Amino acid sequence: MKAIYPGSFDPATYGHLDIIERAAEKMDHLIVAVLDNPSKNSLFSINERIGLLKEVTKHLSNVEIDYFSGLLSDYASRRECYNMVRGLRAVSDFEYEMQMALVNRSLNPKIETFFMASDNKYAYLSSSIVKEIAKFGGSITHFVPKAVENALKEKYEGRK
Ligand code: COA
Repeated sequence: MKAIYPGSFDPATYGHLDIIERAAEKMDHLIVAVLDNPSKNSLFSINERIGLLKEVTKHLSNVEIDYFSGLLSDYASRRECYNMVRGLRAVSDFEYEMQMALVNRSLNPKIETFFMASDNKYAYLSSSIVKEIAKFGGSITHFVPKAVENALKEKYEGRK
């Protein structure tokens, strides 16, 4: 079975990597699809986010990193892949995720969304939290892979 794991990944954290690794174990092929949304004020450019994801998933031979813009349902049709993977960190994620799953299915009834419970260790993690800690010089070693940590340091040190 093949599946798409869509997201902003600005930047990828260990929480995302946990979902990617576990989903890749269950799927024959996993497409990690990065949303290219120019109207969103992302810290990392689309190419930087793709580059970091490629770096942190290079040990996973059945994982492909790609990007999309516009509707996820259109991307699913282009890729002929209608299985979506999403991670659930807490009950608070549920409402938004459920809404997204239902909207996607109403746009294309072939789309099925598979929810994976995130690891307890990462239930409180988000890209924004990691960026905030990095911005103020806190340690993010336990939250993101080394390549992402270095990229964040570069971003914020470059801005000083
Ligand atoms: N571990 C750690 N953090 C996680 C996580 C996990 N397992 N899963 C999600 N997060 C965090 C992310 O870091 C991000 O944090 P931030 O808000 O601080 O940046 C937040 O949860 C949500 O991120 P993400 O999973 O990347 O979802 P998203 O809401 O940014 O993107 C898309 C969702 C891209 C799938 C969705 O917006 C989309 O499909 N857009 C295309 C347009 C479309 O088709 N719309 C109609 C359907 S709704």
